[in-house]
Amino acid sequence: MITHWWEVDSADTIEGLKRQPEIIRAAQLLQEGGLVAFPTETVYGLGADATSQAAVAQIFEAKGRPSDNPLIIHLGSPEQLARWVKEVPTVAEICMEHFCPGPLTLVLPHNGQIADNVTAGLDTVAVRFPSHPVAMALLQAADIPVAAPSANRSGKPSPTQAQHVWHDLSGRFHVLLDGGEAGVGIESTVLDVTGDVPMLLRPGGITLEQLRYVLGDVEVDPNLYSEKSKPRSPGMKYRHYAPSGEMFLVHGEPLKVVGRVNRMVKEDIRQGKRVGVLTTEERKHYFKQANRVIACGSRSDPESVARGLYDALRTFDQEKIDVIYAETFPERGIFSSVMNRMRKAAEGRMIRV
Ligand code: TXA
Ligand code: MG
Repeated sequence: MITHWWEVDSADTIEGLKRQPEIIRAAQLLQEGGLVAFPTETVYGLGADATSQAAVAQIFEAKGRPSDNPLIIHLGSPEQLARWVKEVPTVAEICMEHFCPGPLTLVLPHNGQIADNVTAGLDTVAVRFPSHPVAMALLQAADIPVAAPSANRSGKPSPTQAQHVWHDLSGRFHVLLDGGEAGVGIESTVLDVTGDVPMLLRPGGITLEQLRYVLGDVEVDPNLYSEKSKPRSPGMKYRHYAPSGEMFLVHGEPLKVVGRVNRMVKEDIRQGKRVGVLTTEERKHYFKQANRVIACGSRSDPESVARGLYDALRTFDQEKIDVIYAETFPERGIFSSVMNRMRKAAEGRMIRV
């Protein structure tokens, strides 16, 4: 498959973007059943017409994604929602008023109009309204629901830059719209609003605190924190966001973490391994012996850590790092979403000091 990389000027207005030839052509490609990678405010997505089984099948093929993992549909405006779901409960309306467009995905009962492979045969569908101007313009121009997982090979960190998409998937889709760096850096929050009390299925760009502030009671899928039981969001059970190197989270008092990491780094290097440390601006100076130290944002600016995480994991891969030691963050706000991704990247390996 011949793959094109088109730059779009994301500083333009939505109306202006809809007049850009790249957006017009990409929207047509989606309508014709093509695969279009595009930026959203969370991460880059790999999109296809969600009403076409054949178009959607190409997504699973391109990513190497298990077919029992359902996809999120992306809509250009809230008015379109009623066309694809059985009902819009009040709690969903409140969510949309406060957080949409933005990094929140709602799980709702579908009305059977979406292709079966999007929902993996479930009677619910996950829906979101991205706020990135390029995504909004593309979705409004195409005027179809667009199924789009993150545009990475299955299991790898999600792409936050066009070059990440290109690295993982070039030759496997039709067009990549390059709109610069994705803003949030981790995926949307997935909230199931089919029950009496909304339930958080995947932490992400909208925090649990924000949801509770607006909605009151919000449950957290208990399976999110247990490796054994089956999560309600099917995607959460797979190995995810993982770099090629073996990653360990190192948790405890900062000084103890520094001491322990430096001892492990020294020993690993003695054994001939290439070692990386994933840290923050505040602490990067303490890990001089590692082959690669990446300061992923600043502890005083949690959003900056979310923004930099996946690029950092990809950089360790590029530099053929065998072992990665990573500092941990307090389980609050956006850090709690960051920690969810880091635990998965580390496949649960945590060293407590
Ligand atoms: O930020 C995002 O959400 C990005 C951008 C591209 O929009 N997309 C994304 O898609 O992260 P993906 O496919 O990587 O993750 C979708 C998640 C998976 O965990 C999947 O299991 C869950 O949403 N999901 C989809 N449909 C569901 C449903 N009906 N019920 C429960 N979980 C669902
Ligand atoms: Mg993904």
